[in-house]
Amino acid sequence: MADKSKRKKCLRVKIISMGNAECGKSCIIKRYCERRFVSKYVPTVGIDYGVTKVHVKDKELKVNIFDMAGHPYFFEVRNEFYKDAQAALLVYDACDRKSFESLDLWLQEMGKQQLVDDVVVFVCANKVDMGKRVVDRLEGQLWSQGKGFSYYETSAATGEGITEVFQDLFEQLVKLSECDGKRTIPTVTPGFTKDQVDAILRLKNGRDNYEKLGVHYTASRDDINKAYRKLAVILHPDKSMAPGSEDAFKTLVNARTALLRNKE
Ligand code: GTP
Ligand code: MG
Repeated sequence: MADKSKRKKCLRVKIISMGNAECGKSCIIKRYCERRFVSKYVPTVGIDYGVTKVHVKDKELKVNIFDMAGHPYFFEVRNEFYKDAQAALLVYDACDRKSFESLDLWLQEMGKQQLVDDVVVFVCANKVDMGKRVVDRLEGQLWSQGKGFSYYETSAATGEGITEVFQDLFEQLVKLSECDGKRTIPTVTPGFTKDQVDAILRLKNGRDNYEKLGVHYTASRDDINKAYRKLAVILHPDKSMAPGSEDAFKTLVNARTALLRNKE
């Protein structure tokens, strides 16, 4: 009898890793499971499988980890393993823009075998220890939260963010199991639009105030005010839930003021 209740508390979960080759999937898993880091690149061939046990509150979790190869060559192998996954680590290398831009393709690949809505996705912006970062936190957050995914900054080299991402992932899976697999947090509630994301990134990355406001150098005071009003409506911090809205709104106000001063 005692044995039976113990068995009942053990929860089996399946986790997969996704992301371009060399972004650090295997190292993240190794860092978590073995507390170590290997700097030499050993590409995963097809798939690596491992099991680990963890405890979350009074629950014991038997975690099956399927670490996928990121190379396109292994597409057929990966396709066998998407099915029944409950959680995914979706990893990109913050120093490699291409790996960030591939995130949508990874979702598409998974979506062919598994309903994306059935998988809890945890995004890892990895290698944040390296100095040559090209995708900043805000861009990563906007992409992830826009899809309803949690976002983490990780380094398999230093261990930053690794415990947090796995801990949150396991807690989320336990919560889901407690509600019979029904989500406590709705997946698709980005709460912000593509227009807002584009505006925030343009205001942050625009090379000058004209570019930030999206107006030509010859723009009149009227043009500037029009562009300002349009952006102010979509970015007002009371209306926009997107991360970075507040800073973007301040930049917008300053850019408009500076441009109008130029036109006096
Ligand atoms: P595939 O198995 O080919 O899909 O690659 P992967 O995503 O599993 O990459 P892997 O974990 O093998 O790491 C690739 C390379 O990046 C290795 O040389 C790692 O040492 C290095 N690396 C991984 N994570 C980090 C990190 O957080 N920081 C630094 N500096 N290097 C990392
Ligand atoms: Mg690997």
